[in-house]
Amino acid sequence: MRKYMMAGNWKMNKTVPEAIALSQQLCNLYNRDWDDVDIVLCTPSVDLRSVYTVLDFDKTDIELGAQNVHWEESGAFTGEISVPMIKDIGCTYCIVGHSERRDMFCETDEMVNLKVKALIAADMKPIVCVGESLSMRDSGDYLGFVTAQVRAGLAGLDSDEAAKVVVAYEPIWAIGTGRTATPEQAEEVCAAIRATVAEMFGADVADGMQVLYGGSMNPGNVESLLAQANIDGGLIGGASLKADSFKQLIEAAAKA
Ligand code: 13P
Repeated sequence: MRKYMMAGNWKMNKTVPEAIALSQQLCNLYNRDWDDVDIVLCTPSVDLRSVYTVLDFDKTDIELGAQNVHWEESGAFTGEISVPMIKDIGCTYCIVGHSERRDMFCETDEMVNLKVKALIAADMKPIVCVGESLSMRDSGDYLGFVTAQVRAGLAGLDSDEAAKVVVAYEPIWAIGTGRTATPEQAEEVCAAIRATVAEMFGADVADGMQVLYGGSMNPGNVESLLAQANIDGGLIGGASLKADSFKQLIEAAAKA
């Protein structure tokens, strides 16, 4: 049985005092039912240390993730942060290849693959984002496009390494737009992702892998999305920025 995951992607939101306040609110709301869900907060890098301190003090099982990382361990890469840096600060997860980074910061599948490998080599868990644009969806070949992103992002891993990966399907046309994919649309692509992972790494890895949906997930649509066989949780932007809405998503996963 796969565990559900609710990962909040705070994107470029929350100053340090705001980040402390939100993580403290979530710790205060934490109850033992939440143990059934993998909960991850992916904060801006400047917030990681403070949020780690809150999570560590409260001894909840909420885990910490970064939103991006460079694949080199150190060097002349102004503005970047490395895997050893985010690991040392307490991260166990890192988002890789978010569509905003692919679109706005020119991240390629090759860079995504280098980051995935660097994280796995450090025993960390990448949350690899894939998803098509609206024009790609309208063209009809969105399944080919998304599964090619999966193949490229996970290329060169062995099955033990692939077992550490989480994949998040985030159709770009549903991110921050309020226009969620229907449960059937999301399920179709998440099932194709799992089938691709099965082809690459075998049925055991595919059966164990958490495949998330992201794109305007909210308390109103979460139950119908989680009811799908191949959707194991969410990567959540807007609805993760308030304790009350994120709590509702976690509780839906705990009950699902
Ligand atoms: P929204 O939940 O705000 O649509 O963002 C989704 C997302 O991009 C998470 O990574």
